[in-house]
Amino acid sequence: MTESLLIDTPASSTPIQRSSDAMRLGDDAADLRRIKCDPNHWYPVAWSRELKKGKTIATRFAGQPIALVRPQEGTVFALEDRCAHRQVPLSKGRVEGEAVQCCYHGWAYGRSGRCIDVPYLGKGKLPNGVRTYPCREVQGLIFVFPGDPEKAETTPFPRLGSAADPAYKTRRFGAQVKCHYSFMHENLMDMNHQSCTPKRWAR
Ligand code: FES
Repeated sequence: MTESLLIDTPASSTPIQRSSDAMRLGDDAADLRRIKCDPNHWYPVAWSRELKKGKTIATRFAGQPIALVRPQEGTVFALEDRCAHRQVPLSKGRVEGEAVQCCYHGWAYGRSGRCIDVPYLGKGKLPNGVRTYPCREVQGLIFVFPGDPEKAETTPFPRLGSAADPAYKTRRFGAQVKCHYSFMHENLMDMNHQSCTPKRWAR
């Protein structure tokens, strides 16, 4: 993936903590920057334009490596980006029909994550596959559901504002920034700095 989305932030390794600010807000308030993300939601992990037909790309959600695969025909799918054999990233593999073939020893995985071919074993002795993620492509973004797959269908899909409305212009921002994503949300919503920011910073 050549660009990262702001959602691609590492999960905290600590349990839910409350900052002094949150404590002042009351017991029910938690500090967004200290809590773990809830995997039982749909999260955007790549721009559609990054993933060409017949190709794979590597992305991550909260540290989990994910391979996105776009077959020549059919919808995008998402697999754990680690071959079940020797952990080589499947995103480095080759798309064959509706499967991706590992670049190392050729094990192939279908969109369900099941191993469907091991060239030197034959079809009768296939090993376990890899994890698959529910995956959807909406309005130029590729989303995965990193939590319990059984909850994916019933979990409300995020609203994307006016991205599909031709009356609006949507600006897509994909730079990788080393901070909690909420700092960028705050910054981008705070437009009053524009008249003061030197032009060279705004490139
Ligand atoms: S590491 Fe993938 S087939 Fe061996």
